[in-house]
Amino acid sequence: MSERWTRDSWRKKPIVQVPQYPDKGELDAVEHKIESFPPLVFAGEARNLKTVLGRVATGEGFLLHGGDCAESFTDPSANNISANNIRDYLRLFLQMAVVLTYAAAMPVVKVGRIAGQFAKPRSSPTEKKNGQELPSYRGDIINGPEFTAAARTPDPARLIEAYRHSASTLNLLRALTHGGYASLGRVHQWMLDLDPRSKQRYLELADRISEALAFMQACGLDLESHPELKATDIYTSHEALLLGYEQAMTREDSTRPGTWCCTSAHMLWIGDRTRQPDHAHIEFCRGIMNPLGLKCGPTTKPDELLRLVEILNPQNEPGRLTLISRLGADKVGEQLPALVRAIKREGRVVVWSCDPMHGNTITATTGYKTRPFDLILKEVKSFFSVHAAEGTHAGGVHLEMTGQNVTECTGGAHAITDEGLNARYHTLCDPRLNAEQAIEMAFLLAELLKAERAARVRPLPVAAGL
Ligand code: TRP
Ligand code: MN
Repeated sequence: MSERWTRDSWRKKPIVQVPQYPDKGELDAVEHKIESFPPLVFAGEARNLKTVLGRVATGEGFLLHGGDCAESFTDPSANNISANNIRDYLRLFLQMAVVLTYAAAMPVVKVGRIAGQFAKPRSSPTEKKNGQELPSYRGDIINGPEFTAAARTPDPARLIEAYRHSASTLNLLRALTHGGYASLGRVHQWMLDLDPRSKQRYLELADRISEALAFMQACGLDLESHPELKATDIYTSHEALLLGYEQAMTREDSTRPGTWCCTSAHMLWIGDRTRQPDHAHIEFCRGIMNPLGLKCGPTTKPDELLRLVEILNPQNEPGRLTLISRLGADKVGEQLPALVRAIKREGRVVVWSCDPMHGNTITATTGYKTRPFDLILKEVKSFFSVHAAEGTHAGGVHLEMTGQNVTECTGGAHAITDEGLNARYHTLCDPRLNAEQAIEMAFLLAELLKAERAARVRPLPVAAGL
C-alpha cells in the first residue's frame, strides 16, 4: 500500500457494489461538473471533528451517530428531506444528546447520518418480482425505488440532485443548530409526541436543566455571553460508497497543500461489504483527511482488522478512525473481545462505536424486514459489558432512527408487534427506531455511561489492615 495515492487511484483497484450506468460518457460529464461545485463542508470543520473524536477515543466523551438508513429525494412517507422531517430529526437528536450530556455528564459528539446518506450497498445486484428481474434499488443518488425498468436504471443526473439535497439539508441544519433553536434555553421546545413515560422522563430532565441554567444566571453567568450554551455542532456523515461522487467532492485543503478533504461530509464510513483491504473503497478512503468509520461485521478477523487500521491510520492519529462493530446481539460477547484486545495490544487509538441495528435484522412473521428493539438494547448492553471487562471505553453508538412516528422495529414503549408493523412502515431500506424507541435508547445509554464513569473513578483503595 505504499503506492502513491491520488483522488482517482481507486479506479485501478477491484471494486464491488458499483452500479452499471448505461452511458459512461454522461457519468463522466456529471462528475466533472460536480468538481466545480462549492464544497459542502470545510477541511477545518473535519479537523475539528477529528479533534473531538480524538478525545472520545481517550475516554473523554461519547459519540452519538445516527439518522436514516437511506435519505430520499421525494418519498413523502419515508425520510424525505422536507423541512419538517429535518426539524423532527434534529429535535430528536438534540433530545438524545441532551439526555446523554446531562445524565452521563460527558461531552457528546454529534454526527448525523444526514445530508448525503443516499447510496446503499445491496446483497443482490438484481431483484425479481412477478417473473420480472430488474436492478436492485441502490439509493436515490443512483436509481429510484419504484419497480420499473425506467426507475431502476442508474441515472447520472441523480448525483447532481443528491448534491443539491445535501446542500439544502445542511443549510437548514446549520441554521437550526446555530440560529438559536438548539439553545439549552429551549430544551422544553424540542419535545416530540412521545408516550407518557418517555415524556415524563424527558420533562423531568429538561426541568432540571432549566433550573441549573436559572441558578447559573442568578450567579451572574449570562447565557448571552456564552455561545456554547446557545448552539451546538452537528457534523454530517454518510457511507463512502459511490466513489465517483466522492472523488468529485474531494478538494485540496487550501491551507495545507498535499492534504485532501472529501467535502461531501465531515465523516465518511466504509461499509462491511466494501472493506476488502486491496479494493477501491479502502484505497480511496486512506488518502482523504476526514475522520473515517469502519464497519466491523461478524466476518471481521483481528488480523484483518489490524491490517485495515494500518492502511487507514498509519500515523495512529487520534480521532481519525472509529470502529463501528455490527455483530448482532448474540455474537458481541463472543467476537468483540478478540477485536478489542488486538487493537489494545497494538496500541492503536480508535473510537469504539456500536451499531446495534445491522446485526439484528430479521423477517417478521408478517413478511416485513424488522429489528426487535429488545435485541437492539441487548447488543448495546453487551457492547458496554465487553468494554468494561477489557478496560476500554465504550465510545459511541451508530443508530438508524427517524423523528417520525413509524412502526418499523418491533417492541418499545408501544410494544409494536409483527402485525403492528404494517401501520406506518415507511423506510426505503432498513427499519429505523422511532422517536420513542430512540429516546428510550438514550436513557439506557445514559445509565450505562454513568456506570462506566463510576467504575473508572473508583475511590482510592483502603490501606491494608484497616
Ligand atoms: N454546546 C454544548 C454541546 O453541544 C451544549 C449544548 C447546546 C447542547 N445546545 C445543546 C447539548 C443541545 C446538547 C443538545 O454539547
Ligand atoms: Mn441500513
